[in-house]
Amino acid sequence: MRHRAWAFSLALFCLLSLRTGAREFERSRRTERISGSAGDVLEDDPVGRLKVFVYELPSKYNKKILQKDPRCLTHMFAAEIFMHRFLMSSPVRTLNPEEADWFYTPVYTTCDLTPNGLPLPFKSPRMMRSAIQLISSNWPYWNRTEGADHFFIVPHDFGACFHYQEEKAIERGILPLLQRATLVQTFGQRNHVCLKDNSITIPPYAPPQKMQAHLIPPDIPRSIFVYFRGLFYDVGNDPEGGYYARGARASVWENFKDNPLFDISTEHPTTYYEDMQRAIFCLCPLGWAPWSPRLVEAVIFGCIPVIIADDIVLPFADAIPWEEIGVFVAEKDVPSLDTILTSIPAEVILRKQRLLANPSMKQAMLFPQPAQPGDAFHQVLNGLARKLPHDEIIYLKPGQLNWTAGPVGDLKPW
Ligand SMILES: *[C@@H]1O[C@H](CO)[C@@H](O)[C@H](O)[C@H]1NC(C)=O
Ligand SMILES: *[C@@H]1O[C@H](CO)[C@@H](O)[C@H](O)[C@H]1NC(C)=O
Repeated sequence: MRHRAWAFSLALFCLLSLRTGAREFERSRRTERISGSAGDVLEDDPVGRLKVFVYELPSKYNKKILQKDPRCLTHMFAAEIFMHRFLMSSPVRTLNPEEADWFYTPVYTTCDLTPNGLPLPFKSPRMMRSAIQLISSNWPYWNRTEGADHFFIVPHDFGACFHYQEEKAIERGILPLLQRATLVQTFGQRNHVCLKDNSITIPPYAPPQKMQAHLIPPDIPRSIFVYFRGLFYDVGNDPEGGYYARGARASVWENFKDNPLFDISTEHPTTYYEDMQRAIFCLCPLGWAPWSPRLVEAVIFGCIPVIIADDIVLPFADAIPWEEIGVFVAEKDVPSLDTILTSIPAEVILRKQRLLANPSMKQAMLFPQPAQPGDAFHQVLNGLARKLPHDEIIYLKPGQLNWTAGPVGDLKPW
């Protein structure tokens, strides 16, 4: 029975690769837009719609930290650095704080990497607190709103909860001083203490030039049905197994390791980017956090993202039609992943591929140097602009913020 199902799937799969192959050939001419809906918002120009004041901080909060470890420039948390650089020369920047709609504090809280390149957020709360104390004592703007017209880039796993383990992150909660601020973060999950309603979820940083360098001709057929490279178990950090990725990745492996439709492995080949361009579906399961760079890679390489992360809030979800370009599979349904994917009609797959071929979708996922219209920097600004004008309520009742709330360890000077 199982073998019959596979034989059927393989036949469908061959048909699909032929058809997508033919379709891919036309890709440069045939892309599809979702007109009149959120898809168009991606092309908004933020210039003239908001003004941002960039606080000048001592370099120990940003440039010096980067000097100590230049790997921070290529890490998936690099958005905090590139956003700073972008804003410095952006036409939305104002040097006059009196006319600013938004205030930005350039503090690199995630640029503290272990020798293996893992970021350790243990100093982040104290560093953030120190930066906020500095801006609140040197300028009158923080105290005026207690941060409600300030935004911060916090790209760490669980944003401003500043811990890489979910349990601990939840226990900590968002740094109390940031209660009223707008957080620009990669972390996004509904009904989670580490995501506030007014936050802006961004894509993780993925190196644009490197991805560009691996593009293959668009007429190469997609002969891989499902592709995934990454950990299934994080044995080193998760002795019991199963806690990692809430067991979803383990389930992918256990159910499909021998299924010929599934090209899955822990080994990261040098042809990783090329392989994604030869695949129809790319699995984007949660890891420690719901998000991963695979989401960006899938969009860039036109591979339909299969999102396995219950309640995930995706980057720029108010502008990108994720439901239309991706496939969402509940974590509990992973054992039926093969049936779910093989029963998607070919025309639905082709439509998703055409939408993914839309350059504005790809542009919104990247933080290129220099910036380009419609890129992720512009989407952040668009998101901030859509929150304007600020509600008068933000200027009321100073003295609401508790400067001594939170773990005692966070109160030590940085
Ligand atoms: C803002 O409030 C803090 C805490 O109440 C105070 O220490 C600081 O001096 C105030 N800043 C300004 C510029 O008045
Ligand atoms: C501020 O937080 C600290 C620590 O949680 C608490 O002891 C104190 O009572 C709080 N202050 C106010 C005014 O709520």
